[in-house]
Amino acid sequence: IRTIGVLTSGGDAPGMNAAIRAVVRTALGKGVKVRGIRKGYKGLLNEEIIDLDAGDVSDIIQRGGTILQTARCKEMITEEGQQKAAAICKKYGIDGLVVIGGDGSFRGAQKLAYLGVNTIGVPGTIDLDIDCTEYTIGFDTAVNTAMEAIDKVRDTSTSHSRCSIIEVMGRDAGYLALWCGIANGAERILLPEEEGYDIEDIIDDIKESKKRGKKNYIIINAEGVGDSVNLAKTIEERTGMETRATILGHMQRGGSPTCKDRVYASIMGSMAVDLLLEGKTNRIVGYRHGEYVDFDIEEALGMQKGIPAYQYEISKKLSL
Ligand code: F6P
Repeated sequence: IRTIGVLTSGGDAPGMNAAIRAVVRTALGKGVKVRGIRKGYKGLLNEEIIDLDAGDVSDIIQRGGTILQTARCKEMITEEGQQKAAAICKKYGIDGLVVIGGDGSFRGAQKLAYLGVNTIGVPGTIDLDIDCTEYTIGFDTAVNTAMEAIDKVRDTSTSHSRCSIIEVMGRDAGYLALWCGIANGAERILLPEEEGYDIEDIIDDIKESKKRGKKNYIIINAEGVGDSVNLAKTIEERTGMETRATILGHMQRGGSPTCKDRVYASIMGSMAVDLLLEGKTNRIVGYRHGEYVDFDIEEALGMQKGIPAYQYEISKKLSL
């Protein structure tokens, strides 16, 4: 491998910069040239390719977002797009590519691997919804950001004796909601992995908790369940308790990465380069059972993780 390309793809996540820095510095340390590809696969197809040296990645480990910028790219789903992307890699001498992103980005990486570009995926998403790994870059920061925001909503919710519904991101996955629910001591957590929720049960519980003298009622609602504003209206009408919905939105994706995100992202970025230099391709770096591991992309995409049922049960027990 003479030249390694690096790109970030899909939604950005805090810690991506730490991974980029690790890719660049590990590769340079081994005498390998690095090219940064801007705006994910979209930038690759538009040939937005720059050389990166050690200085280009200084002073970025603490920054949120991604210095390379990112994008979602429909063209990369097509065979034509994939062929074009592989040809551009070849044109720029990129014989190894590190793709930092989520499942969709890894599918693109897999296609490129089949077309002769050595690729390694690094899991980057605040959603934690990559099945082969217990850690994804950005989740730790996002969950801490959301937790702090929810603490603030709780303060005002208590002052006004309100029910507060706080909607957190996560697309179709409920990891952010589950973790916030436990960390913020929520009365309810609504997860997309559950088949709907029982509104009658929620209403009865709110009435009961009012009788027991609870000063507020916090519901963490996952984005995949959604409809927080209507749920708030229903609850207010049916319980008489003032109810407000807060949708945290994209603030969860920003901010300086936590120590965990900086360290794990650094190790994974560095490992991706080591794997390429060992001659490996078509693999994803992951973290499982306390160790950094790597999987074949096909195998990784076929794995299933799911919300740990025991953790969800515990969250319910603690919300009395
Ligand atoms: O995948 C990360 C994520 O933030 C999801 O939680 C959310 O559903 C989605 O991206 C939002 O995407 P966009 O930034 O395109 O609105």
